[in-house]
Amino acid sequence: MSQTYHYLVRRLHSFAGIFPVGIFLLMHLFINSFALRGEAAYNRAVGFVNNIPGLVYLEILLIGVPIAFHALYGLWVTYVTKTSIFQYYYFRNWMFYLQRLTAVITLIFVVWHVWVLRIVRVFTGTEMTFLTVQAWLANPLYLTFYIIGLLAAVYHFSNGLWSFLVTWGITIGPESQRLTLYVCTVIFILLGIAGINSVYAFIR
Ligand code: HEM
Repeated sequence: MSQTYHYLVRRLHSFAGIFPVGIFLLMHLFINSFALRGEAAYNRAVGFVNNIPGLVYLEILLIGVPIAFHALYGLWVTYVTKTSIFQYYYFRNWMFYLQRLTAVITLIFVVWHVWVLRIVRVFTGTEMTFLTVQAWLANPLYLTFYIIGLLAAVYHFSNGLWSFLVTWGITIGPESQRLTLYVCTVIFILLGIAGINSVYAFIR
């Protein structure tokens, strides 16, 4: 019973990493990329999202609850599988270690990011606009942490996609796992460039 329970929770954790958390990350990066088209385009894209009926409830149900579950179970997994990096001689072991390191960085980043850019905004009634983000990113400390958090989240997602395919038995043999390693590396590079490009649109 307990084995089956752990197996199911493990599967649910893996699934939640892509649906909906990973999909949300992609959508978020896509919305941010409107900043590249200028202030008005970004404000229009954010305004469209902010006008979705019942947004707060959707955010809590479709993003908040799954990410909280994924993060809490992920913290537990990180805790029970903690090992010294000196044990990591092989490439895949390093990926395993980086998956956990980026999980913790992403957690700190997401909590901070949601607090300053979402929750505080609900309390103060301020609107999210291009200028709000621009003023926020003008602080070099925020900017640095934003870039570190962004790259950690994007790495965690891309490497997680690779292990998701293994977990679900989609890539079984070494050949398919090598091929998806290349694909996921390209996804990491492209998402990283896209994310940093959008940040640059606010500070140039
Ligand atoms: C941007 C937010 C996040 C996304 C998109 C995401 C996505 C993923 C994906 C797709 C996987 C692979 C699942 C698998 O191996 O089958 C994964 C694994 C993992 N995630 Fe996340 N995750 C996010 C945030 C977090 C946070 C905040 C934590 C906890 C601090 C966390 C902890 C973990 C851990 C420990 C694993 C490895 C599980 C294992 O190998 O057994 N994740 N994540």
